[in-house]
Amino acid sequence: MDIEVRAYGFPWTEGIFRDCIRVGYCCWCYEVNGVIHGYGVMSVAAGESHILNLSVRPDSQRQGVGTKLMKHFLQLARRHNADTVMLEVRPSNTPAIRLYEKLGFNEIGVRRKYYPADGGQREDALLLALSLVH
Ligand SMILES: CC(C)(COP(=O)(O)OP(=O)(O)OC[C@H]1O[C@@H](n2cnc3c(N)ncnc32)[C@H](O)[C@@H]1OP(=O)(O)O)[C@@H](O)C(=O)NCCC(=O)NCCS
Repeated sequence: MDIEVRAYGFPWTEGIFRDCIRVGYCCWCYEVNGVIHGYGVMSVAAGESHILNLSVRPDSQRQGVGTKLMKHFLQLARRHNADTVMLEVRPSNTPAIRLYEKLGFNEIGVRRKYYPADGGQREDALLLALSLVH
């Protein structure tokens, strides 16, 4: 939660994380010597995986942690026989978009007014996907 509240203007609540763990989503931390540097959450259902959260603590960013977590999730998705991995990202989130594009994700659509934004507004989400079928 310490990382989550620093990483996002509209962070997940502890209840959302607890629900994800309870329903059996893939919930992973990247930990070194007892320090959590990043984490992510992915659901897998009906051949489709969905990355729901990916966060790296501010002082550990740009050191490959996000890439390591994402590669781990892609491996898990393959192991669960998923054909596709999807995720949403704010169009303003250049670091995340660059990371996902480097891993081969493509933009496949826009979800209008998906995210909460300042002043009670909503922001669109880009929908990105990566095919695991070759
Ligand atoms: C997005 C995020 C997970 C990236 O994690 P990270 O560990 O810093 O990423 P990596 O070090 O693996 O970077 C991989 C590539 O992503 C891109 N990237 C990462 N941070 C970037 C930045 N600040 N500016 C531009 N590109 C960036 C680069 O292409 C980078 O490769 P390079 O360092 O060789 O140039 C991290 O910035 C974060 O937690 N942000 C806040 C939470 C968030 O927005 N999560 C995503 C929600 S969809």
